[in-house]
Amino acid sequence: MILVLLGPPGSGKGTQAKRLLTERGWPQLSTGDMLRSAIQNGSELGRQAKGFMDQGALVPDSLVIGLIEEKSKSAECAGGFVLDGFPRNVAQAEELDRMLGRLGKQVESVISFEIGDEVLLSRLSGRRTCQKCSAMYHVDTMKPKAAGICDKCGSAVVQRDDDRPEVIAKRLKVFHEQTAPVAKFYEGQRKLKRLDATLAPDAVTAKINGILGI
Ligand code: AP5
Repeated sequence: MILVLLGPPGSGKGTQAKRLLTERGWPQLSTGDMLRSAIQNGSELGRQAKGFMDQGALVPDSLVIGLIEEKSKSAECAGGFVLDGFPRNVAQAEELDRMLGRLGKQVESVISFEIGDEVLLSRLSGRRTCQKCSAMYHVDTMKPKAAGICDKCGSAVVQRDDDRPEVIAKRLKVFHEQTAPVAKFYEGQRKLKRLDATLAPDAVTAKINGILGI
C-alpha cells in the first residue's frame, strides 16, 4: 500500500502515520521528521533547510524530492509506505507519480484530513515533541507521564521551533496556497478520500481503517 496523508499542519497526519507504523508495520516517510533529523545531525541538507522551516516556508522541492526518492527505493519500503507531509505542492505530486512510475508503482490511496484553522492553532501551540524519537504530546490533551520526558525513549520533550504562533500562521497560509491544490490533483485521479480530522485520535484511526478496508 502506498498511502498519502494530506492535510494542514497539526491536522494529525504524524499521529496517524505513527499508529500505522506501530499497528501495521507500514513505514512512515515524513519529510518533516527527515529534515529535522538532518538539522540535528548538522548535515548540509539540514543547514540548507533550517532557514525555510524556521520561517514556516516550504523547503525547495529539489531537497525533499531526493529524500523521498532514496527512501522509496529502500528494501524496507518495498511492500509500501505512508507519506506524511509529502507531496506538499502540485509539482511534488507530479514528480512523485513519475518517480513511482519508474519503479512500476503508484500512489494507491490519499486521505485528506479536513479541519479548520482555529483548532489547528490550539493543537500546534500546545504540541510538544520528543527531540530524539519524534513522539508527540500536547500540554493539555496528551501529556507525557513525567513532565518534559518522553514516555517512549526518556529523552527531552520540547516545543518545535516552528510551533510558535507567528510561524504557525505562516505555515497555515502556505498550506492554503500551495498544499490545498494537491487535493484537487488526487481528486482528478479518483484517489482522494476526506475525513473529519476534528474527531478524537481513536475515531480518526477507525475512519482510516474504514477507508482502507483494513
Ligand atoms: P512537517 O513536520 O511535515 O509539519 P506539518 O505538515 O506542518 O505537520 P505537523 O507535523 O505540524 O502536524 P501533523 O499533521 O503531523 O499533526 P500531529 O500529528 O503532529 O513539516 C515541517 C516543515 O518542514 C514545513 O513547514 C516545511 O518547512 C518543511 N517540509 C516538510 N515537508 C516538506 C515538503 N514535502 N516540501 C517542502 N517543505 C517541507 O498533531 C498535532 C498536535 O495535535 C499534536 O500535539 C497531537 O498530539 C495533537 N493531535 C493529533 N491528532 C489529534 C486529534 N485527533 N485530536 C486532538 N489532538 C490531536
